Amino acid sequence: MNRLQGKTAIVTGASSGIGAAIAKELAMEGANVVLAARRLEKLDEVKNEITEIANGKVKIVAIQADLSVQSDVNQLVEKAQAELGNVDIFVNNAGQMRTASIRSGQVEDWEQMIDVNIKGVLYGIHAVLPSMLSRSTGHIINIASVAGHEVSKTSTVYSATKYAVRAISMGLEKELARTGVRITNISPGMVDTNLNSNRTWNDRKMLEAADIAKAVVYAVTQPDYVNVNEITVRPV
Ligand SMILES: NC(=O)c1ccc[n+]([C@@H]2O[C@H](COP(=O)([O-])OP(=O)(O)OC[C@H]3O[C@@H](n4cnc5c(N)ncnc54)[C@H](OP(=O)(O)O)[C@@H]3O)[C@@H](O)[C@H]2O)c1
Repeated sequence: MNRLQGKTAIVTGASSGIGAAIAKELAMEGANVVLAARRLEKLDEVKNEITEIANGKVKIVAIQADLSVQSDVNQLVEKAQAELGNVDIFVNNAGQMRTASIRSGQVEDWEQMIDVNIKGVLYGIHAVLPSMLSRSTGHIINIASVAGHEVSKTSTVYSATKYAVRAISMGLEKELARTGVRITNISPGMVDTNLNSNRTWNDRKMLEAADIAKAVVYAVTQPDYVNVNEITVRPV
């Protein structure tokens, strides 16, 4: 299907896992996609794979960016606009899950998670929102987590960052009412990616990255007046 033909999307954290799957699904719907992350060689692999699957019908651009550095995020959006025009869809997916209990005392790990998972999301929104507001259209997708709905003793700081992502999504929904710009928060349960060394979760089979990508496509293909605010996806 080509429900996103002519649209431009940026997907952060597109060098692996959920981000790579989101980029692929958006491209299969006809969107031109900018892939962003720190590992350029991995981005190029994803770019080549999508270009082949899409038979060259969409434009895929790989841009190296550290989402925890605001100037990188601003440059990412500027380069994306220069290459592919106005950004219609911005997927805040880049994220890290490091040692997260308070008792571990791993301050550097906490700071990494805060910098990417919270500040990176804010930098991304800050970079794309003015253009979206001036055009009265656009869609921001924030990838949070079920860890933003419940906390375990090993996930304290990671959960705190994902609660923050949900709070940002909830506040933004109110800020953006009647502007034409949409915001969707997606909270995945356990997904089989590099982020997870577990292969089951509470004896449940883990989700595939493509399952989350399909939730993104669902949200961005609704009619313009429909804002899907929150999607939570857990394995059965
Ligand atoms: N897997 C799960 O069970 C699960 C569940 C709920 C939510 N999530 C969320 O889903 C998102 C994607 O995670 P994943 O499971 O797909 O893990 P992943 O395969 O490890 O992917 C993480 C992505 O984030 C990028 N990234 C990390 N730090 C970055 C930085 N400073 N600047 C730019 N990019 C950065 C990585 O790229 P580079 O290393 O190349 O920079 C990579 O592409 C995260 O926000 C995660 O919290 C995952």
